[in-house]
This record gives sequence, structure tokens and C-alpha cells, in this order.
Amino acid sequence: MARLLVTGGAGFIGSNFVHHVLDHTDHDVVVLDKLTYAGNLASLDGLPADRFRFVQGDIADPTVVDELVGGVDAVVHYAAESHNDNSLHDPRPFLDTNIIGTYTLLEAVRRHEKRFHHISTDEVYGDLELDDPARFTEHTPYNPSSPYSSTKAGSDLLVRAWVRSFGVQATISNCSNNYGPYQHVEKFIPRQITNVIRGIRPKLYGAGENVRDWIHADDHSSAVLTILDRGVIGETYLIGADGEKNNKDVVELILTLMGQPADAYDHVTDRAGHDLRYAIDSTKLRTDLGWAPQYSDFEAGLAATIDWYRNNEAWWAPTKDGVEAFYASKGQ
Ligand code: NAD
Ligand code: DAU
Repeated sequence: MARLLVTGGAGFIGSNFVHHVLDHTDHDVVVLDKLTYAGNLASLDGLPADRFRFVQGDIADPTVVDELVGGVDAVVHYAAESHNDNSLHDPRPFLDTNIIGTYTLLEAVRRHEKRFHHISTDEVYGDLELDDPARFTEHTPYNPSSPYSSTKAGSDLLVRAWVRSFGVQATISNCSNNYGPYQHVEKFIPRQITNVIRGIRPKLYGAGENVRDWIHADDHSSAVLTILDRGVIGETYLIGADGEKNNKDVVELILTLMGQPADAYDHVTDRAGHDLRYAIDSTKLRTDLGWAPQYSDFEAGLAATIDWYRNNEAWWAPTKDGVEAFYASKGQ
């Protein structure tokens, strides 16, 4: 049994991880989350009070971070500003949280000699051509495109430096696009599902040929637990489930699953600097650590996600109008 500090545990992937840990292990969890616009305490409803505690605070605040890190065995670091579109309009919070926040946590785990796992993204590698047979591996050079991905790349490099220079006991994982319950309606899949529920036409950036490599958030959680259990200190592991799809196909599948004509969507202004394609080769994680994803059927996982948004309107409704007004102001 271990005590885990999960940063960003009120966000999309962090909350899925907290549920996964409490369901599948006997670890205790403390969540540290600032509750920005992206955090939602309702995502942590119903967790057992004897194994779970929530603390509202900023990962860039050394006092709160030092006190919490001192009381746990390991830190799993999800907290971040996570949305590319926001980073194009206001990059500053991305620097504060993704860079200074990660630095603050690294100094605390260094002081207290605690295990650290850093959650990162495949976007640090930039993008691939549509017809490139290559996929990202742990050896692909860093080449981030957006303010978001460049701050994530910077945070990865900080972790590597703290391992090498100070002997911090850390691992890093870089995962592809997640889908599943509790994802904010600003993101692609929940935005389109909730648009259809509200009678709004889905919005596709540009021609919709951009490819993302989809993985269910629960598979991301099992991969992170595997790395915490058996990962080699100082190593990076790529997490992916062979889920490449272009955005047009995903929108058409959402519309079909929701009983609408497959072409009932709009093309809108493209994202500046829009990465064309991400694709993950997760051979290292599968062969060295024996991990495998459970959600191999994207259509079934997407149908379950649609059901979740249909059944949990109270969770997303308070944020929907503001998100759509913001996108409309940008022609998206
Ligand atoms: P999210 O935006 O849904 O959640 C982020 C959480 O972090 C929120 O609860 C927010 O309140 C909290 N937070 C933000 N700033 C904070 C601060 N300064 N102090 C404390 N808490 C703060 O993000 P997500 O999609 O769940 O992503 C989680 C992590 O996974 C991020 O590090 C992201 O880079 C990474 N990641 C995401 C994906 C994806 O597909 N969403 C894929 C690969 C990696
Ligand atoms: O690859 C991992 C990354 O995946 C994570 O690091 C990020 O935190 C996460 O947000 C996600 O980044 P993307 O930019 O790929 O995700 P997003 O959901 O914003 O967009 C997915 C694709 O859909 C992208 O090609 C842009 C497009 N898109 C997005 C929105 C919101 C649309 O076509 N229409 C939309 O309305």
C-alpha cells in the first residue's frame, strides 16, 4: 500500500486515474488541484473518505507543495494548462503552471527524496506527415509546435535534468489523445457530443484531415500504474493504443452513433500551427513492462462516452455556453 499525491486530480485524466487507483489498488490518494476553469470537484464525487483527501492549491506554491509531498510516498503529476487553443490566445498561465509548477514539485520531491512520475504528451515531438510510415518513439527528437506543447516539452526536460543532476527518482510518460468520461467540453470529442445533444452542428477545424491517436483514459491510467510499479528510474515511456483516426471520421462517427446524418457538421477556421498527425509506437511499454490496453474497440468506447455525456448533463451544462461563446468569437 502506498500514499499517492495526484496533482490535477480534478481534471479529466487525473480524475479518471484517481477512480482507477481507488478501484484497482489499495493505495490512498491525496489530490492537489487549483480548481481552474478545467477542474471539477464533481468528477471526484463518491470516493471513499478513508482513502481519499482533496486539497485545493497551486502546484507553483512551494509551501503547500512541500507539506503535501512530505506526507506521501510518490507524486503523480497531471496538473497542467492543457488546451492548445487557449495557449494560442493567452500563453502565460501555461508557463506558470507547466514550467514553474513542475519545477516547484521537482524541488519538493528532491528535498523529501520521493518517487515522481511526470505525465506528458506526444505533442512534444511535433507532428508527422499523413503518409509517413513512422510513428513517435522514445528516441524521436523534441519539436513542439504550440505554446502548450513547448511548455510540456520544457517540463519534461526539467524532469530529465533533475534526475541526472540531483538523482531525483523520476519517470516520464508521453501519451496520445485521451477520450472518455469527465473531459471538459472545450476538447474535440466532448464538444461535438454536447453540440449534438444541444442541437448545435459539430465544428471541424479546416478540412478535418488531421489525425489523432486515440486512447481511452482508463488505459492511460493502467499504463501509468504499470510505470509506477515497474518503470525504470530515469526512463521515458510512450503510451498509445494504435488508435489513429482523422477528425472528419471521428465527427462522422459521433453523428452516426447519435442518430444524425453523418454530414451534419460545419467546417470552421483552422487552428494556427495545427499539428497534422500524431502516432505513438508503444513497443517499449508493452515489451519491457508487459502493459496492454483494454479498450481495443474505439466505436464501442466512443458510444459509452456519448452515453456518459447524455447521462451527466449536470456535470457539463454549466460550462457549455461560455465555451461556445468563446469559440464563436474566434470563428470556431
Ligand atoms: P485538464 O485540463 O482536464 O485538467 C487539468 C487539471 O489541472 C485541472 O483540474 C486544473 O484545475 C488543474 N490545474 C491547472 N493548473 C493548476 C495549478 N497551477 N495547480 C494545481 N492544479 C492545477 O487536463 P487533462 O486533459 O486531464 O490533462 C492532464 C495531464 O495529462 C496534463 O499534464 C496533460 O498535458 C497530459 N496529457 C493530456 C492528454 C489529453 O488527451 N488530454 C494526452 C496526453 C497527456
Ligand atoms: O496528443 C495529446 C494532446 O491531446 C494533449 O497533450 C492535450 O492536452 C489534449 O488537449 C489533446 O490535444 P489536441 O489539440 O490534439 O486536442 P483537441 O481536443 O483540442 O483537438 C483534437 C483535434 O480536433 C485537433 O486536430 C483539433 C481538432 N478540433 C478541435 C476542436 C476543439 C476540431 O476539429 N474541432 C474542435 O471544435
